Amino acid sequence: MDVITTVKEMKAAVKAVKSRGETICLVPTMGYLHKGHTDLMRMGRNLADHLFISIFVNPTQFAPNEDLAKYPRDFERDRALCVEAGVECIFHPSPEEMYPAGYATYVNVEGITETLCGRSRPTHFRGVTTVVAKLFNICEPDVSVFGEKDYQQLAVIRRMVRDLDMGVRIVAHPTVREDDGLAMSSRNAYLGADQRTSALVLSRALAHAADLVLKGERDASKLRKAASEMIASTPGAIIDYVEIVHPDTLQFVDFIDGSAVMALAVKFGTTRLIDNTVLRTIG
Ligand code: PAJ
Repeated sequence: MDVITTVKEMKAAVKAVKSRGETICLVPTMGYLHKGHTDLMRMGRNLADHLFISIFVNPTQFAPNEDLAKYPRDFERDRALCVEAGVECIFHPSPEEMYPAGYATYVNVEGITETLCGRSRPTHFRGVTTVVAKLFNICEPDVSVFGEKDYQQLAVIRRMVRDLDMGVRIVAHPTVREDDGLAMSSRNAYLGADQRTSALVLSRALAHAADLVLKGERDASKLRKAASEMIASTPGAIIDYVEIVHPDTLQFVDFIDGSAVMALAVKFGTTRLIDNTVLRTIG
């Protein structure tokens, strides 16, 4: 497995693959890999001739008050997991390689970046779309896999690819969970034992809302209230948002008609966790 740290070398590796008429799948990550990431990679392995992943803790998607400096990193462990998952090449650039002195260009998707996580993290998605656009330009993937765990991110990337006529197919992977329901996340490493127990309320609140829909509840405000009450009564849980949105436009909906997404963000101490589920009127 190759580890490539410069844009120049990465482009040369891509050129060699493309000159043979072969295809590339790219799975972008920020490292500190867990089963959520490696399941995306296993899916990616079957979608193209070559599986590339990127590991880059992208500074432009963190606000100055966020956790860039303490974001967990363990490249040697990540490298071993990538070998196991059948990755052929890791692109692992430095921040200076991606954003050299004088860097001035950003990609901004409007509208859907302003709701949900965009409300409390107003510069976040601009950083995500900028780095993903750069990764797509450098690695020229035919297909790229993103997790539904970051539902809004997936919708934003799909929008960018459509709007900018990028020739890459975006494939979604379902949220990968621990056995007890907690959505896997590199940030779970920040949780203390009590917070880890409290965090189970996220998946439970989503399951409760999904169950109420199956039992006939259609009123979004009642469903949000039911989930919010469960979360608010959990020790240490501070709600950022609990919303129900249209699956594609991410516009708030008043009633569930067919399907909608319940998305939530909750803080435990300084750790902010997100989760979501599709609410369907038919099981
Ligand atoms: P990161 O949080 O490392 O996640 C990388 C990819 O793994 C994303 O597509 C994310 O949705 C997916 N993922 C993470 N946890 C998952 C889980 N439990 N189940 C399914 N998929 C999961 O998301 C980012 O990095 C960055 O914003 C990035 C896209 C790499 C841009 O910097």
